[in-house]
Amino acid sequence: MSISEEMYLHYHGLIVPKETHSYESLEFAQGFKFEDDDVLAVTYPKSGTIWMQEILPLVLNGGDLTPIHTIPNWERVPWLEEKQLARVVDKLASPRALVSHFPYNLMPPSFCTSKAKVIYVMRNPKDIMVSSYYFHQMAGFLEDPGTFDEFMDKFLEGKVMFGKWTDHMKSWRNSELGDRIMYITYEEMAQDLPAALRRISDFLGCNLTEEVIQKVAEHCSFKSMQNNNMSNFSLIPKVYMDHDKSPFLRKGNAGDWKNHFSSEQLTRFTSVISKELEGESFSLPWSLD
Ligand code: A3P
Repeated sequence: MSISEEMYLHYHGLIVPKETHSYESLEFAQGFKFEDDDVLAVTYPKSGTIWMQEILPLVLNGGDLTPIHTIPNWERVPWLEEKQLARVVDKLASPRALVSHFPYNLMPPSFCTSKAKVIYVMRNPKDIMVSSYYFHQMAGFLEDPGTFDEFMDKFLEGKVMFGKWTDHMKSWRNSELGDRIMYITYEEMAQDLPAALRRISDFLGCNLTEEVIQKVAEHCSFKSMQNNNMSNFSLIPKVYMDHDKSPFLRKGNAGDWKNHFSSEQLTRFTSVISKELEGESFSLPWSLD
């Protein structure tokens, strides 16, 4: 299956969309100077990135709503590797929060020598694939996904942006960053957001009161984010994101794959993913069956 050269750049064996990335932005990321108090949320695409762009400023600022109501998510908590970063980096309030889809091996040297903390958000890959399938339909800067079955092949072969989910997971699960890294799942956040926020707040040393935790949870709910124009991508022209085809904030729940996978597709998907994770020392937080 071929990859659209028109839409993607090749970078260290990965493909990334040209609309949001350039060789300059990728080099800028490599030269980026991490500060010890920076916080980075890392995700494989469609695992809950923009959710973290809502959560982090609120947690880091004691629940102050100003950033999430006045700054678009991509400027508020920019992607390390995207074109936007160079434009907004000097405006970022301290402690800075960033997101990234980079696998661990592409992190810049300054990240490794800094004490910056990382939150790695994992999501059931079957739900990631479904979410990504719809995202490819609505995002004008991504290749048409074809049929669900065709897209599954591309996903499993890693012929999608940022490559194979298994490689991404392995790189971060084996990164040995000790107490600099915290792992959390999308499912955990969906099931009990206040509990997830307490974990995040403790990890970042923010000491939020229960009242603030409840306030942050309310403003990071799927519904609140759907209604927040600074977070729902409604500011982006339709040619880049067509919410009539599929809203960016689409369903926001765990297990939607059950409405999409045939039993044959489930077997194929599970067998490829399980094989690629054979021999790994970590276990998955969900069953693949
Ligand atoms: P669905 O397509 O399954 O609805 P990313 O930000 O990494 O691209 O991930 C997008 C996915 O996260 C979408 O999943 C989106 O709806 C979901 N999401 C974003 N904010 C959410 C929230 N507050 N609660 C639940 N899901 C959320």
